[in-house]
Amino acid sequence: MCGIIGYVGPRECRDLLLEGLRRLEYRGYDSAGLSLLGDDDIGSVHAVGNLERLRDAVADGNGHLRGSTGIGHTRWATHGRVTEANAHPHSDTSNRVHIALNGIVENWSELRAQLEAAGAKFTSETDAEVVAHLIAQHLDGDLTEAVRRAYNELRGHYAFVAMSADHPGVLVGARKECPLVVGIGKGESFIASAIPAFLAETRNVQLVQDGEIVELTSEGTRFVEPVSGQPIEREVEEVDWDDEAAEKGGYETFMLKEIHEQADAVAETLAGRLDSEAIDLGDIGISDEFLRNVRRVIIVACGTSYHAGLVGRYSIETWARVSAEMDVASEFRYRNPLLDERDLVIGISQSGETADTLAAMRLARERGAKVLSITNIMGSQATRDADGVIFTRAGLEIGVAATKTFVAQVIAMQLFALKLAGLHGTLGPEVTTTLITQLRRMPHMIAELVDSVDEQARRIADQFKDCGFFLYLGRHVGLAICLEGALKLKEISYIPTDAYAAGEMKHGPIALLDENTPVICVATDSPVLDKMMSNIAEVQARGAHVVAVATEGTHVDAEEVIKVPRTDWLLQPALAIIPLQLVAYYIACARGLNVDQPRNLAKTVTVE
Ligand code: F6R
Repeated sequence: MCGIIGYVGPRECRDLLLEGLRRLEYRGYDSAGLSLLGDDDIGSVHAVGNLERLRDAVADGNGHLRGSTGIGHTRWATHGRVTEANAHPHSDTSNRVHIALNGIVENWSELRAQLEAAGAKFTSETDAEVVAHLIAQHLDGDLTEAVRRAYNELRGHYAFVAMSADHPGVLVGARKECPLVVGIGKGESFIASAIPAFLAETRNVQLVQDGEIVELTSEGTRFVEPVSGQPIEREVEEVDWDDEAAEKGGYETFMLKEIHEQADAVAETLAGRLDSEAIDLGDIGISDEFLRNVRRVIIVACGTSYHAGLVGRYSIETWARVSAEMDVASEFRYRNPLLDERDLVIGISQSGETADTLAAMRLARERGAKVLSITNIMGSQATRDADGVIFTRAGLEIGVAATKTFVAQVIAMQLFALKLAGLHGTLGPEVTTTLITQLRRMPHMIAELVDSVDEQARRIADQFKDCGFFLYLGRHVGLAICLEGALKLKEISYIPTDAYAAGEMKHGPIALLDENTPVICVATDSPVLDKMMSNIAEVQARGAHVVAVATEGTHVDAEEVIKVPRTDWLLQPALAIIPLQLVAYYIACARGLNVDQPRNLAKTVTVE
């Protein structure tokens, strides 16, 4: 995820901005840049790679980069390659307006065409650059007014900060869904995508809300409603975080922070990919022609990514009616698989570096199959070992236990399944439109769910934290969520867990049940819900405790029922996993364990 920092005040701000970017490094980035407003013009430096490279680039400029109004940015490439030209800040043709932007501008291509027709010269491949040109086009003596007009023409979700050489001592920020926050110092103001960026300078903050514009000067701030232009009152709050808490965004652990970032991760993964009636994945490197004729999809992955693949398998078979198989990468690569040029192999890996997944992808290519990678990391090995790539855009995940990257993988697989269904003509327009509408709402549903189930998850964790074993039961996509929920609990709490297809319970695992066993049942809406209900009754008959995850509006007879919002049943997995992540999290915390760094585990597994 990208980072923004801006400063306006009396101080020479180059080093302040570099330090702000350093404090945002934990969010992950692949290039960075700074723009400073000097006496009459704006100087800018970009660098690919880490901040050391940016510092070197700044030093190479013999200190020409000076000023007391400036913006800085760390970029995590989503639109356009990792190059200096694509790094932010971006400027308009006359180099008078500079912007740094996080997020996605969905209508960038139509805006770019209009701006080019009006004479604008673009220098990058990014969607963000249109914002600088658009503000410049509207600039007529008032930067805030120009930002307001530009904002009203933009679609997507983003946060940006703009400055203009004609308006020294002014920064203007705008927020549409992506985070933006202001820091109020003594005779100076800061703006950033996260509080840690300026926490060493001030603890007084003003939160920019969704759909607001803010003008900053050394004297303070002015908030504006973008449609009406009316002023908005905003109080100043004091944050009491120490440095460590700041890095974690005020959460106790990275894992909890990342659980709360899932709505943003999904919003990013969806951004620009949903038309009203179809899925637009852009150029994924695998042609529509190939996908129309594809014989079989085989998904390979490890761990959590394997569970996301399972959800994908069901989605592909149900929506696109294309035969889909799923295998653990470390098994697939050694089973001498039969493959040919009509097969598509999808390798899912958040890191893009997992040895077994890479080996499985290479083997598939050697045998003539096309290979698509689904990964979170640009430039990772998986992107080089594949014919095509779909990026999840979950941002850097620091907690070893995957959370937000899992949900982003599930969504990416579902986008792919819907695209395939479109090409195969297997879903009617009404169903497609309903699914797209529900996907659009997914970030909001996730954001609300994370908050609304928190207390219940804590209570359940408290009740069962000392149990020696947990069984998870589910069917269909619910089984994938059980496998993932069980993995989360075992890897961070070290409690043995088992996840089973509920229909298999009577073939053995039922022997494990007694009145001390918590059984987590994923019983969300689905065509097999009745069967799942019977399984729950069987569990209860053995005296075990049932905690069920169910869809709002369905009655499930269990000791504890956690409700998730109603959607199409195949979209339930990205919601159903959230309470299970939280239950696992609170159990591990109650046992005093280090959830961010569980024993024996590494974030990236590069050995076989
Ligand atoms: C579990 C977890 C692991 C990874 C697995 C694959 O929380 O994170 O199971 O999912 O090691 O990693 P990637 O997705 O990077 O290939």
